[in-house]
Amino acid sequence: MQIIQTVSDLRKALKSQDSVGFVPTMGNLHAGHIALVEKAKQNANYVVASIFVNPLQFSPTEDLSTYPRTPKADYEKLKAAGCDIVFTPSVLEMYPDFDSKNLNQTMTIDPPPIANVLCGATRLKHFAGVATVVIKLFNIVQPNIAVFGKKDFQQLFIIKEMVRQFNLPIDIIAGETVREANGLALSSRNGYLTDAQRAKAGQLNSALQSIVSQIHNGNKAFIQLEQQTSASLSTQGWEVDYISIRSSKTLQPATTVDRNIIVLGAAKITNKTGGKTRLIDNIELCITD
Ligand code: PAF
Repeated sequence: MQIIQTVSDLRKALKSQDSVGFVPTMGNLHAGHIALVEKAKQNANYVVASIFVNPLQFSPTEDLSTYPRTPKADYEKLKAAGCDIVFTPSVLEMYPDFDSKNLNQTMTIDPPPIANVLCGATRLKHFAGVATVVIKLFNIVQPNIAVFGKKDFQQLFIIKEMVRQFNLPIDIIAGETVREANGLALSSRNGYLTDAQRAKAGQLNSALQSIVSQIHNGNKAFIQLEQQTSASLSTQGWEVDYISIRSSKTLQPATTVDRNIIVLGAAKITNKTGGKTRLIDNIELCITD
């Protein structure tokens, strides 16, 4: 596996490849990321993963400086998974005009309004930062396919929309969420939690599962279900950002005629340092009756 830091070296290395799969990451890799690399390998002959902690997608109050960086362990995992190239650019390689005090210097993508709800309602400009880095990485790697995890469903939705609206010749493939035994979705931010907190963190997935069961049992009082679940998580000590039942096709709030539904949640849990860690999760379901 080659480790490449510059755009020009990456372009040289990819020159003769005609079936490239791409997995963008921010590093601190876990089994969920490796499953995405494996999926890329099933769909392309040559696989590139990137590791880049993208400053544009963090707000000033978020964990950019403390975001876990574990390059050596990441390289070992990628190599074992059969990745061919890991691209690890510096901030200036990705954003030559980057100025941390004046982010407006950098040209960005302006995503559609769906980027301003759910996670985007509290993480202002987050999806503009994600879309910008992803379109840059797509332009650099020029993959045939790219794999994104379903855990970040809103991100996946916006990337698909960007590919559609900008006519990018890339197939976006969705990778399933990998979970711990208690249902907790794997996330690099789970590392901020003690074992006991990780055990408690399974409550978020259980809460979403409970909504799914109730919908399957015919309950379509979606707003009530959202409110009851938020209240129940709050009494269990969570700071709930949102619990939302939406159409998985449009990401708009679900209506009683929708068949393809997604139940999404974001909430904060107390972490190792006594601060809060924000976790997200979702479950898709199909109403067949
Ligand atoms: O999902 C992530 O890890 C990031 O948002 C991504 C897609 C690598 C862009 O920085």
